[in-house]
Amino acid sequence: MVRVLMHGCCGAMGRVITGLAADREDLKIVAGVDRNTDDSLGYPVFQSLEACDVEVDAIIDFTAAPAVDHLLDYCAEKKVPVVLCSTGLSDAQMAKVSESAKKVAVLRSANMSLGINLLMKLVKDAAATLADAGFDIEIVEKHHNRKLDAPSGTALALADSINEAMEDRYHYTYDRSTRHEKRDPKEIGISAVRGGSIVGEHDVIFAGQDEVVTISHTAYSRAIFGKGALEAAKFLAGRPAGLYNMADVIEAGN
Ligand SMILES: NC(=O)c1ccc[n+]([C@@H]2O[C@H](COP(=O)([O-])OP(=O)(O)OC[C@H]3O[C@@H](n4cnc5c(N)ncnc54)[C@H](O)[C@@H]3O)[C@@H](O)[C@H]2O)c1
Repeated sequence: MVRVLMHGCCGAMGRVITGLAADREDLKIVAGVDRNTDDSLGYPVFQSLEACDVEVDAIIDFTAAPAVDHLLDYCAEKKVPVVLCSTGLSDAQMAKVSESAKKVAVLRSANMSLGINLLMKLVKDAAATLADAGFDIEIVEKHHNRKLDAPSGTALALADSINEAMEDRYHYTYDRSTRHEKRDPKEIGISAVRGGSIVGEHDVIFAGQDEVVTISHTAYSRAIFGKGALEAAKFLAGRPAGLYNMADVIEAGN
């Protein structure tokens, strides 16, 4: 049985994962860390990683970008594999993720759902055909009003996926309000909508002359991210140092 530490256990995702893990026999959340506290989660909650004296095989992180540097240092030093799900990481933090992955197993994914990881592949294929035929590419994402970062990590990952297929020929435009010019054919426009309790919606729009192809994903519940995170923790426990992603988890499950 894989023993998991839930980093950010008192947050929205931490609670969803706690509920999902309770129904599983192949893994167990044995401890949580959060700056808040809650004694109803069914496992001990510590206020810092250092305070936690419970042995674990993997950590699942759903906190926020500022918490990630310390978490990576801790995991590299203690050699505990980590599933890194917090979004809004800076370029410096992304570099630190790669550095840490030389010392310990790290899986980072802006989106843990099976559907979005399929979408990453589909948009690559679509771009390969449509971009050269003159279609403009726009991404619109929608999330709940509590989300701190914008655009979403998933929107950026979708843009990166397209750009990878296009040999990095595209640049990203987040705001047109101060520009009075036509869009550049080599830009990917990325727009963020925030409101209510929207779990997560992503539309990748390929707009051509007289036809539009839209590839969409809608998350109806946070459970899709939680399930992916638990599968990732199970996959990562006992793995050697390296940078892994959800495609590795999906492949291992097939
Ligand atoms: N990768 C994915 O699939 C995916 C899916 C959903 C959310 N997210 C990301 O996960 C993160 C958490 O999302 P959420 O909706 O659960 O947020 P949330 O605000 O509800 O929960 C975050 C929790 O982390 C705790 N926390 C924050 N900083 C901390 C620190 N330094 N030390 C200890 N605890 C700390 C908070 O007290 C809170 O309980 C966000 O970055 C969000 O964008 C990623």
